[in-house]
Amino acid sequence: MTDQNSPQESSQPDNWPGNKHDTRPASWKVDIDSNNIAWLHFDMPGNSANLLSQSSIAELNNIIKGFEQDLPRGVIILSDKKDSFIFGADIKEFTALDNKQQALAFMHNGHNLMDRIEALSCPTVSMVHGLCFGGGTELSLACDFIVASDDKKTKIGLPEIKLGIHPGYGGTARSIERCGPLAAMGIMLTGRALSARAAKKIRLIDEAVAPRQLRAAAESYALTAPSRKALPLHIRLTNNALLRPLIAARMRSQVAAKAKPEHYPAPYSLIDLWQKYAGNKKQMLAQEAITVSELATTDTARNLVRVFFLQENLKSQGKKVTFDVEHVHVIGGGIMGGDIASWCAIQGYSVTVQDQDPARLAQTIKRAQYSFKKKFKRDRRAIRDANDLLTADHRGAGIHRADIVIEAIFEDVAVKRSLYESIEPKMKADAILATNTSSIKLEDLSSCLDKPGRLVGLHFFNPVALMPLVEIIRGNESDESVVQQALAFGKNIGKLPLAVKSSPGFLVNRILMPYLLEAVTMVDEGIAPEVIDKAATDYGMPMGPIELADAVGLDICKSVANILSEALGMELPGNLQELSDKKLGKKTGEGFYKYKNGKPVKNRSAHYPNPQEVQDRLVMRLINEATACLREGIVEEKDLIDAGVIFGTGFAPFRGGPLEYIRSSGVENLSTTMNHLQQKFGNRFEKDAGWSEL
Ligand code: NAI
Repeated sequence: MTDQNSPQESSQPDNWPGNKHDTRPASWKVDIDSNNIAWLHFDMPGNSANLLSQSSIAELNNIIKGFEQDLPRGVIILSDKKDSFIFGADIKEFTALDNKQQALAFMHNGHNLMDRIEALSCPTVSMVHGLCFGGGTELSLACDFIVASDDKKTKIGLPEIKLGIHPGYGGTARSIERCGPLAAMGIMLTGRALSARAAKKIRLIDEAVAPRQLRAAAESYALTAPSRKALPLHIRLTNNALLRPLIAARMRSQVAAKAKPEHYPAPYSLIDLWQKYAGNKKQMLAQEAITVSELATTDTARNLVRVFFLQENLKSQGKKVTFDVEHVHVIGGGIMGGDIASWCAIQGYSVTVQDQDPARLAQTIKRAQYSFKKKFKRDRRAIRDANDLLTADHRGAGIHRADIVIEAIFEDVAVKRSLYESIEPKMKADAILATNTSSIKLEDLSSCLDKPGRLVGLHFFNPVALMPLVEIIRGNESDESVVQQALAFGKNIGKLPLAVKSSPGFLVNRILMPYLLEAVTMVDEGIAPEVIDKAATDYGMPMGPIELADAVGLDICKSVANILSEALGMELPGNLQELSDKKLGKKTGEGFYKYKNGKPVKNRSAHYPNPQEVQDRLVMRLINEATACLREGIVEEKDLIDAGVIFGTGFAPFRGGPLEYIRSSGVENLSTTMNHLQQKFGNRFEKDAGWSEL
């Protein structure tokens, strides 16, 4: 309820989606109750989630227009989907936008609707249960009141920044108006989702109630329309024109620590928008539509939308079969096995973790407790539940009841084979056996099993809790049903599963290794590690290759490099061949860098006359290997190479992946760079035949 001017009449034609001549099934249904409250049910036909598509916006716009003529006592917006309110705008429609003008028209449709809801002169309530993101939150913000269920499934957020834009349906100005700039900018700049209670705490919503009280709470707000308290003075002051430049500068420097403006312009545009226009809501809303239209058509936004769909693609790989797992047994409580076990417990699985060394097992449990606290923070009940789900199991009693046994013991063929021989008779007949091996051929392991088809690779990345990808290695002998079950398990534990052919280095390590080796070669040539790492982070990598090699451990890098060098002829630089046991990287306090308090000591004045060449050498090795994987069919679809590299290595998401980078930069241009590097540095820069398949 506001006294704002009514929004402009929309000039939609009669056959516009949602108008009377549109024959599509309706997404919205209106129920008027005995108190003359209009309950607006959103239930998009044929979709598991509600999306604010152009057609559902137009349909709702028409309903609200009707309310302007015949005003109900109150309006309540709710979803008929199970555990999901509104997932946001329809991102597919974004990908069809060719230019700024189209994008602006798109935004104006959303703005017209939100303005119209805000201007209705009866109380309007958004009744949220389940996921409420992006446009869903913006629609809620246009209502007078927002009440939400305090259910675990309710999550509220404005995650647009992750797609290279910022809120574009009025969410910028309205979220700031509701909770003040610091809290609102905090959620918009990070894109993080809040629980209903956390959203209430920052005043984003009015009420968080138990699910069974949600309807009554919404009804009560619609009937009584209580006045909302003004924001406290100290919060209002942060929107003051004199303070804004100072606060904005601080926000910019915090963002700069994570994202460069030339790579990710959206957070900077959002801060500028607030700094310039926060004093005038109408102006800010108008300007919001303009900046979002500009951002929506940048390469960054297109690529981040691509990354979103790649992620959905990976999730869908795990949805083809159901695999009901009641118990997980992990063997090996080391760095990987311990973290895999605690991750599965965090995801709600009953887990036993076995190690031959009881002292190691005690450490594993201690580390798991730390992981639970880190994950659940002050939620003691969740910490206790996770602790209850994880059991130390020195003798392997859990094998008998496990539906999946995950092996993460020493990287040694003979040791792994002898373990398999001893455990297979104890496993349930239909249980699957998954190995976390990073380099051993699956066929060398499965041949000792009575049922070789039950073995599959489940290759997690380190650190398990942070890396979203898990490679599902399809051995020559693996049963297809077992591969599908492993994909489903990967998805069910909240990872992005990717089926990969059993071949040296699988996908991710294979593509990463030439890039790491080129970096180490450059150090051998005398180029400072700092220069090399900066060239990589300037390209958009989350961490430079030298710092990464130190973090992984130079001994581990060497052993993976050896395998790839034997299989694929990759050359090993001299400095990696002769390693000192005292200088194995971060874990020994020194590798290429020296470490102080766990951080590398860097020489900030390190310099090299041709940093572009350093960057080209790194990037070209990586993308060339990606084309080799394409040629060899290491994964089933071309796009999955980009997906694997982005989610397995953190490869600059705004570039859309290595193959997309070649496509967008132009094969001709990059071929010239390759030719130049080949002449200067030799045949490791020879273009792979896979370039012709792009
Ligand atoms: P780790 O050396 O930290 O842990 C191995 C654990 O297995 C030790 O605690 C050891 O006591 C236990 N173990 C050995 N033989 C056993 C047996 N027969 N029965 C029960 N327990 C036994 O090794 P890490 O790093 O966790 O690696 C494990 C596996 O994961 C290896 O296959 C490795 O290639 C793979 N991997 C490692 C990654 C890493 O970054 N460390 C990344 C991805 C995969």
